[in-house]
Amino acid sequence: MKIIRTANYEEMSRKAANIISAQVIMKPDSVLGLATGGSPEGIYKQLIEWYNKGDVDFSEITTINLDEYKGLPRESEQSYWYFMHKHFFDHVNVRPQKINVPDGTNPNVEEECARYNQIIKSKGGIDLQLLGIGIDGHIGFNEPADTYELGTHCVDLDESTIEANKRYFEKKEDVPRQAFTMGIGTIMQAKKVLMVVNGAAKADIVREAFFGPVTPRVPASILQMHPDFTLIGDAEALSKI
Ligand code: PGA
Repeated sequence: MKIIRTANYEEMSRKAANIISAQVIMKPDSVLGLATGGSPEGIYKQLIEWYNKGDVDFSEITTINLDEYKGLPRESEQSYWYFMHKHFFDHVNVRPQKINVPDGTNPNVEEECARYNQIIKSKGGIDLQLLGIGIDGHIGFNEPADTYELGTHCVDLDESTIEANKRYFEKKEDVPRQAFTMGIGTIMQAKKVLMVVNGAAKADIVREAFFGPVTPRVPASILQMHPDFTLIGDAEALSKI
């Protein structure tokens, strides 16, 4: 595990964007596992800037997003499909047919999970997986549990996740209670894993996840076992380690 300390959100975002663009420059047809949320927003902004300068080309990449709310259609402003287009895809030359996000509207959970697992397998797995971390230690939407779920599955969201994500919705009751998420096995099989974390609210979970025992009760703790895991944090998030 490599830890990179940065002064603030901007520096954290720039350093992470550097690693992602290096990946794409070295392997233009990389399979990138992407994440939504406040943590990676700055990375996408930076990548768009470098794309506009002609420094990085996304025409050959395949993207596989971590998760999607169950029940939300693509057009919904709170869907992760929408988030990714608004913050990244609409501004760069990634090819629409190479974009993958779970389909939150598929009522057949088993079928959707199998479809998503098959996509990941057919691309040969993920070259670089970008992650944030929830205050309960979740990665993707892998919430604290008794065991690790390996493949794509549908989860009941934790109260703390609903509370944290209500900022994107008009009211808390509007936050979906379930979501599709890539599993822990898939994340662990990514060749590289890059996590960004910022803000004082994440300081305790960072210490617990990466300096405590490896347990499915703190899903991110499994990343301690990943052979190529980099954590980039701002001063506040890393203040307790
Ligand atoms: P955030 O979400 O980046 O919006 O804090 C992280 C997560 O829940 O994984």
